[in-house]
Amino acid sequence: MGKMKAVRIDRPTKAEDIMLTECEIPKVRPGWVLLKVMAFGMNHSEQILRREEILEDYIQKPVIPGIECVGVIEDPSDSHFQRGQRVAALMGGMGRSFDGSYAEYALLPAHHVFAAESSLSWEMLAAVPETWFTAWGSLFECLDLRPGDVLLIRGATCALGYAAIALAKAHGCKVIATTHRERKLSLLADADEAVLDEGSLVGTLKGKGITKALELVGPKTVKDTMQCMEKGGIVCNTGILGGIYTLDGFDPIKEIPNGVYLTGFFSNTPTQEVMTDIFHYIEKNGIVPKIGACVPFSKIQSAVEAMDAGTVDGKIVVTMEVG
Ligand SMILES: NC(=O)c1ccc[n+]([C@@H]2O[C@H](COP(=O)([O-])OP(=O)(O)OC[C@H]3O[C@@H](n4cnc5c(N)ncnc54)[C@H](OP(=O)(O)O)[C@@H]3O)[C@@H](O)[C@H]2O)c1
Repeated sequence: MGKMKAVRIDRPTKAEDIMLTECEIPKVRPGWVLLKVMAFGMNHSEQILRREEILEDYIQKPVIPGIECVGVIEDPSDSHFQRGQRVAALMGGMGRSFDGSYAEYALLPAHHVFAAESSLSWEMLAAVPETWFTAWGSLFECLDLRPGDVLLIRGATCALGYAAIALAKAHGCKVIATTHRERKLSLLADADEAVLDEGSLVGTLKGKGITKALELVGPKTVKDTMQCMEKGGIVCNTGILGGIYTLDGFDPIKEIPNGVYLTGFFSNTPTQEVMTDIFHYIEKNGIVPKIGACVPFSKIQSAVEAMDAGTVDGKIVVTMEVG
């Protein structure tokens, strides 16, 4: 069907070794649809894939990374989609067990592709699927966020953190957001309070009435986060920014305070219903997804380098050149 440009990796790869290669545009098959990618957001998990997860057996090799994208249906195959329809796709093994979005075209399972009813530009739309689905699921499905809640967001200077601040503020909550870098406190101005996280927060935050907590640093700090909660409070572990993925030797009897609840969110099962709710909510509330940088596909290497350097505040979006 012709050729396309894509990033493909088959081993741990440094940012400076990321390059575009030419490969076949994938052939459509039943149950799968072919998307012309218009833009895609980049994610912390793609950094983990590139650095270490690529060695795992469940990763297809070589693989085109990228766990999300927005674009138009090029070939709907046997699905309900129409050619030219505007869609978003995310997760379900994308960019891990089958090729993902760092490409001009992506062949994706129809059940992980969603109609994107939104007037946002491609660039803005690309900042939404994975980040906003995760923020939405963590806050509403897992934390049962209610107006009036006092929400702690730990590790808030990431795309997910900024989205969660915007959602929680629009929902009528008080937000306390943390960063481990003093110079980034000013980036948390949309929260009600910005707090420097030097490893332990219980001394600073216990007694502040925190009813819900979104833990993005992860197992490195989640025990301390649980200690900051009011009785009846819920902690949702969604992130792993701290680089520690499991709680080894976890003693739930002693380490979960009485009357505090611990849950976790995994973004692997998006639905059309939730994606539609998110697109509508963003439009209705006039929310502008925070984009830290917008990079053309031909400069994908610099986007990956920027992610490694941690110099971009907000979502990195990659756009395809028109033509
Ligand atoms: N559970 C799920 O299904 C799910 C879905 C999506 C994302 N996630 C997770 O959510 C987290 C955020 O993802 P993202 O894609 O939004 O990230 P991102 O935008 O790529 O942000 C990465 C940035 O987070 C910052 N960060 C903030 N606090 C940190 C800390 N304590 N330690 C290290 N870095 C810290 C780093 O910059 P500074 O160090 O300069 O602050 C880093 O540049 C990640 O852990 C990701 O794996 C989970």
